Amino acid sequence: MAKIISLVNQKGGVGKTTCTINIGAGLAKLNKKVLLVDLDPQACLTNSLGIAPDEVDSSIFELLKKEASLEEVVLNDNSQCPILSSQLALLPSCMDLSGIDVELSDTPGREFLLKESLKGASEFDYILVDCPPSLGLLTLNGLTASQEVYIPLQTEFLALQGMSRLLETAKVVKERLNSDLEVTGIIGTRYDKRKVLNREVIEKIGDYFGDKLFGTLIRENIALAEAPSYGEDIFTYKPGSNGARDYLSLCKEIIEKKGA
Ligand SMILES: Nc1ncnc2c1ncn2[C@@H]1O[C@H](COP(=O)(O)OP(=O)(O)OP(=O)(O)O)[C@@H](O)[C@H]1O
Ligand SMILES: [Mg+2]
Repeated sequence: MAKIISLVNQKGGVGKTTCTINIGAGLAKLNKKVLLVDLDPQACLTNSLGIAPDEVDSSIFELLKKEASLEEVVLNDNSQCPILSSQLALLPSCMDLSGIDVELSDTPGREFLLKESLKGASEFDYILVDCPPSLGLLTLNGLTASQEVYIPLQTEFLALQGMSRLLETAKVVKERLNSDLEVTGIIGTRYDKRKVLNREVIEKIGDYFGDKLFGTLIRENIALAEAPSYGEDIFTYKPGSNGARDYLSLCKEIIEKKGA
């Protein structure tokens, strides 16, 4: 059965999408079969793989509304994007997804749509869900479908702001919608050890989350910011970069932690 992990933080720009792509690509490099799910109407994950959201035949929007099947929506062919394959596949997003809260406001069971949509995806070892920067219906769908939550945190001032609300949301989802759910991983991103503030913030995050904080910190690395403009993951774009080293080390931790 696939391990489904949502990457969640209602704070914007903390590295959710960068983590989703590069953890996915790293796990695929380590021979795991991975599905990336773009659950954000901004479609940054889809765009970052060089795919124009308005040019895909169908997206996760149609899948959630049961107007398309998983097979119809999954992209796993390198003609669409050179880094996609049956080993690393994508469920693309589209801008229409932003209206789903309103469109489905009266639909019973609307928090379970992603969970139901992913039922046929058992061939994957890992499914990584890139959530939008909010705690609305889409993120609730991510949390309801997942066994685990990873929270990327930028190692800057106010990193922990909003954390109690996020953890409370995860707790409520666990109590009411998905008893399997656990927050299992905190990922420190854009770390620069030369900055006293970054070191202090990581210490605070460690105090707050204990061993949930992954030992691997993702360093600030320009190649990580450049790779999306080439539609590539970090291992394809700059295999010798600190970004590639950090994400590979994080993926090894993820696999060891799960014993998978
Ligand atoms: N380790 C890093 N080093 C340098 N730049 C990074 C790093 N991680 C992420 N970035 C850059 O920071 C910006 C925000 O990252 P990203 O889009 O992954 O965050 P996000 O949490 O998904 O944002 P949003 O909330 O808008 O979805 C991007 O421009 C990305 O390229
Ligand atoms: Mg994002």
